[in-house]
Amino acid sequence: MKHLLSIESLSAAEIQALLADAAVMKRERGRHGTQPLQGQVWALIFSKSSTRTRVSFEVGIRELGGQPIFLNASDIQLGRGEPICDTARVLGRMVHGTVFRTFAQADVEEFARYAGIPTINALTDEEHPCQILADLFTIREKRPGPWHEKVITFVGDGACNVATSWVFAAGRLGFELRVAAPRGFQPSPEVLRRAGGRIHCTEDVQAAARGADVLYTDVWVSMGKEAEATERLKTLQGYQINHTLVALAKPGALVMHCLPAYRGKEIDAETFEAHAQTIFDQAENRLHVQKAILAWVIR
Ligand code: CP
Ligand code: NVA
Repeated sequence: MKHLLSIESLSAAEIQALLADAAVMKRERGRHGTQPLQGQVWALIFSKSSTRTRVSFEVGIRELGGQPIFLNASDIQLGRGEPICDTARVLGRMVHGTVFRTFAQADVEEFARYAGIPTINALTDEEHPCQILADLFTIREKRPGPWHEKVITFVGDGACNVATSWVFAAGRLGFELRVAAPRGFQPSPEVLRRAGGRIHCTEDVQAAARGADVLYTDVWVSMGKEAEATERLKTLQGYQINHTLVALAKPGALVMHCLPAYRGKEIDAETFEAHAQTIFDQAENRLHVQKAILAWVIR
């Protein structure tokens, strides 16, 4: 039984294979020879809001021959306290796979353990593996070349789910990852230890941007952290991708954002629009990469 629960649990070879499969999915969209999810029904359980992840999975499942059922966690008994392990065992008898977005990583892992069907992490507080696979795919598409020659700079909340998945991806693929974040928002020593690789954490955002191939950011206030919004906006000020920062990066550097974007916070409006082509290609690639993930977990 295969699952996609984290970047940490993937090998470099598995990541490379998923990226190669995604390229085929993208090239052959609308004329897939086989329909790997034919006759399958997949549940999408979401405890948090979503535009990209939800739509790309619903469309992707249909394009591969399956049918999605969207379940807002607050509409099912899970939202009234039914245990994960019971929800998982019920769904495991009715559907063929589950895409789960929630808070604790442990909950997605418990679901996978009990359900007996392929389970995909659609974002937890700890990781966002589907996002990072789509980001890697986008970089590979736009800037082909060996991973170990690339420098990727993450700017902002370096302890958030997206940053953590970047840390594990760096450990696997060998690119240099620089995390520019204020104190209290850096990746935890435990995550850095588990990841290995070439990861440099700094409070100096300008030093982190210098010569980078990619500047990447995510929201300053992740879902579930709304109570800390005022403090976060204050502390993270200055960790913004803007013209000054882009000027320090390598000429032609990619500017990426997983979206949704808050202009004037983690990125300024001009820089966002100047790099909108990359950012929305990145969003589109969620579809192609997740179709590769779906086909891979049922293989
Ligand atoms: N980037 C991302 O996962 O977007 P959604 O929250 O809209 O799914
Ligand atoms: N770090 C963000 C990612 C959104 C796709 C969050 O968890 O809200």
